[in-house]
Amino acid sequence: MPTLKRLAIWTLLATQTVVPAFAASAEQWAKRSIYQIITDRFALPPGADPTKCDAGEHTWCGGTWNSIRQNLDYIQNAGFTAIWISPVNQNYVGPKTPYGDPYHGYWIQDNSQLNARFGTADDLKALSKELHARKMFLMVDVVVNNVMATSTSPDYSKYMFKDKSMYHEYCPIQWGNHDSEQTCWFGDDKVPLPDVDTKNPTVISTYHTWVRELVEEYGIDGLRIDAAKHVNKDFWPGFVEAAGVFCIGEVYGGMEVNTIAQWQGPAALPSVLNYPLYAALKEAFVIPGTRNTSALAEVLLQEQQNFVDTTVLGNFMENHDVPRWHNMSVDPQSMYNAMAFMFMTDGIPIVYAGQEQYFSGNSDPWNREPLWVSGYARTPAYELIARLNLVRNYLIHSTDWVTQPTNVLTVSDNGIGVMKGPVVSVLTNIGSPPRNGSSLAVQSPYESSTALIDVMNCRQFVVGSDGWLDVEYTKGGVATILVPRDLLSGGPICPPSPSSQNVKGGQKQPSNGVRATVIGDWAIGFMALLTGAMMW
Ligand SMILES: *[C@@H]1O[C@H](CO)[C@@H](O)[C@H](O)[C@H]1NC(C)=O
Ligand SMILES: *[C@@H]1O[C@H](CO)[C@@H](O)[C@H](O)[C@H]1NC(C)=O
Ligand SMILES: *[C@@H]1O[C@H](CO)[C@@H](O)[C@H](O)[C@H]1NC(C)=O
Repeated sequence: MPTLKRLAIWTLLATQTVVPAFAASAEQWAKRSIYQIITDRFALPPGADPTKCDAGEHTWCGGTWNSIRQNLDYIQNAGFTAIWISPVNQNYVGPKTPYGDPYHGYWIQDNSQLNARFGTADDLKALSKELHARKMFLMVDVVVNNVMATSTSPDYSKYMFKDKSMYHEYCPIQWGNHDSEQTCWFGDDKVPLPDVDTKNPTVISTYHTWVRELVEEYGIDGLRIDAAKHVNKDFWPGFVEAAGVFCIGEVYGGMEVNTIAQWQGPAALPSVLNYPLYAALKEAFVIPGTRNTSALAEVLLQEQQNFVDTTVLGNFMENHDVPRWHNMSVDPQSMYNAMAFMFMTDGIPIVYAGQEQYFSGNSDPWNREPLWVSGYARTPAYELIARLNLVRNYLIHSTDWVTQPTNVLTVSDNGIGVMKGPVVSVLTNIGSPPRNGSSLAVQSPYESSTALIDVMNCRQFVVGSDGWLDVEYTKGGVATILVPRDLLSGGPICPPSPSSQNVKGGQKQPSNGVRATVIGDWAIGFMALLTGAMMW
C-alpha cells in the first residue's frame, strides 16, 4: 500500500546525482529548519478546555497528531520546513508513577504499536501527508536504548522484546563509567528503564525490520534518536541503513567536542544534536553570564576539525530537557542574537515550541508548557524567527551558502563576527539598552564600497577601506546580518522600494574611522511590521 507514496517521498529526498539514499537525505536535511513539538503540548483538538493544563501535574493535556495537523500554518508561516514530534509508539499504561504519566512519549512499552493517546494510524498518516503536501518533512523521535518499567523485575511479555535475555541485567548507571552507561539501566528504582541488549542478534534484526516498517508505513523523512550514546556505537550504521532516512542522535553533553564528534560518521550516526554549540551559545550570549565569545569561536573551530560534517548537526537553544533560554536570560536581545547565530552558522536550526512565545520554564516538567496558552501570537520572537527562516531559505535556494564553512572574523567584548558563504553576521551580547559610542568592527573580504544589506531591517551598509564594517549600537544590541545587495536583487528579501531607489547621500553617517557607512533604508516599509514589533 505505501509503495507509491514512498516513491514520491524518495523522489523528494533524492538529488540529481546517483548517491546512496542516506547521503541524499542528509544533504536534503541540511537545507531544512526544524520546529520541535511535544505532541501532547502543541495544540488542543477543537472544543477542548484550554485552561486545564498544568505542566506541574506531569500528565496529559490532550494534544494529538490531528491537532498538530490542524495548526501547521502557525509553523509554516514562521518559515519552518520540517517538524520533529515526540515518540509515537505505545507507552506505559498504568497508575500514575511518582514522576507522573508518560505524556511526553518517552516511556516506551511496546514499540510495535502506536500510542493511542495521540491518535490512530490514519491520523499519523494524515499528518505526514499534509506535511508533504506543504513540502515539509516529518521527523519522528524514537527510543531504542530502553523501555520503561515500574520495578526492576518487570513483566517482559508486554514489551516488543518479550524475553528477559534481550535486556541487560539490572544495574544502576555509574555515571562516568563508559561500560556502565552503555549497559546499565537509566532511571531509578521508582521508574527504571530496562536497557535493551543491542548486541543481541535477534534484537538487532527485529529493530531493523521495525524501523524500516515504521518509516515506510508513516512516510517518515527523518528520525531523532533518544539516548543514542547509551547504545553501542556499532549498532547504529545497520539501524540507519534499515531506516533509510536521515537520523540525528541525542548525544547529551557540553563543550567536549571531540568526544561528541565520535558519534557522527559512517561508523556511527549521520548526525547528532549540537550540544557543544548549545553550551557555547550560553557562554557567549546569556545575560547576565560570562559572555565569552572566545569560547564560541573555539567550539566552532573544534567542531569543524572534529565532526565529519558540521552542516548537518542539529543546532538548538532549547529542548524539553534543558531550561528555556528566557529562564536563563531575560533580555530579549540575548535570545535574538544567539538565535541569529544559530540560523546563520553551520547546521540545521531547531526551535523548540514555545521559545517563540518567550516561555520561561526551567527543568522538567516546567519546560514543557502548553503552547495554546500563548494564543499562537505573532510575537517579536516569532517574527524574528520567521525572518531568519526566510533569509536562510532564500540563501539555500539561491546560493551554495549551506555547504560553506562558517569562519570567525572577529571576537570582541561586544560580540562576534562570522562569515559563511557571502553572509557576514555580526552578533552582540551587550543587550537591549542603546550604547552610543559602542560598536563592533569586523574586517570582511569585501572590496571597499561594496553595498551590503542588513537583512534584519533592510538597512544598507557600504564596505569601508580594507573591507572594514562597523556596526553601531545606538538602537541597542541588535543582530546584524549583512548580505551583498546584488545577491538579493529580484528576491523577496528587502526588494528596493520606489521611494528609496535613489538613496540620498545626505543620510551618510561616517563613523569614527570612516569604515562602513549606513547610507539609507531600503524598502523599510516592507519591514515596518517587523521592525515595529521588534522594540527598535
Ligand atoms: C573564554 O573561553 C576561552 C576558550 O574556551 C577560555 O580559554 C577562557 O579562559 C575563557 N575566558 C573566561 C573569562 O572565562
Ligand atoms: C525559571 O524557572 C523556574 C521554574 O519554572 C521559575 O520559578 C522561575 O521564575 C523562572 N525564571 C524566570 C526568570 O523566568
Ligand atoms: C544616542 O544616539 C542616538 C542616535 O544617534 C540619539 O538619538 C540619542 O539621543 C543618543 N543618546 C544619547 C544618550 O546620547
